[in-house]
Amino acid sequence: MFKIVPGKKDIGAEIFCNINKINKKECKKIKSALQKYGMLYFRKQKLNSKNYIKFAKNFGKLAEYPRLKGLNKKYPKITVVQRKVSDKGPSFGEQFHTDSIYTKQPPKFTMLLSKLVPKKGKANTEFCSQYLAYKYLPVSFKKKLKKYKGNYSSEGPIAITTQERVKEKGKINKELKSRHNIIRKINAKYTIYCSPGHFVGFNSKLKRERKLEKYLFNHQIKKKFQFSLAWEKNQLAIWDNRSMLHQATPFKGNRIMYRITIN
Ligand SMILES: [Fe+2]
Repeated sequence: MFKIVPGKKDIGAEIFCNINKINKKECKKIKSALQKYGMLYFRKQKLNSKNYIKFAKNFGKLAEYPRLKGLNKKYPKITVVQRKVSDKGPSFGEQFHTDSIYTKQPPKFTMLLSKLVPKKGKANTEFCSQYLAYKYLPVSFKKKLKKYKGNYSSEGPIAITTQERVKEKGKINKELKSRHNIIRKINAKYTIYCSPGHFVGFNSKLKRERKLEKYLFNHQIKKKFQFSLAWEKNQLAIWDNRSMLHQATPFKGNRIMYRITIN
């Protein structure tokens, strides 16, 4: 069985299939669905690390995550995102962001495979379509922002959520910085590519344009662009970092996710 069920307003889609058994034709359909809907999720997937990596390779070259160590020697490209019930403070990624935007070539896609999750609906990931955010941006802002670049830092506002993890794994990195166009064309559609969690200013040489920043961030994350993904065990999700913002919702409990990023 193979079926694609789009979310409301085409934000995200659920794919019904067995990833262990997909054929080339189905794989092609999955890739074009990812372009169209920005985020796909697959429930009830019993994938071992070998097959998880194999599936991920269909989408591109596997990336190194600069902030965390790999799962083990055999699978260095899988990183473990873990939250324990005893953890205090915000969860990993608890603010709208796009992954690793502070690098020169941020990964196109991120995949998560859930290994341990709290009760369904208690620890969702929120996605926010930046295709739609661009579509609904007033024309004057579209024009203005096409000329702008954003500056990003790994020490941006969201950094507090990664510090505990980095300490645990003992891999300390220096600050990473980058600059990218705010408006991008992906899959022949315009998108807003700006990560509020890592943003440290526009490329303007003048003073920081706080009003414009505030307007843009508020606009980017409007409820009408959002899709809330509920997790269950053995669920896989993949999203396009160039057209989707995402954030973890605050929760208390144990959660283990295996993460792969793809260039
Ligand atoms: Fe993230």
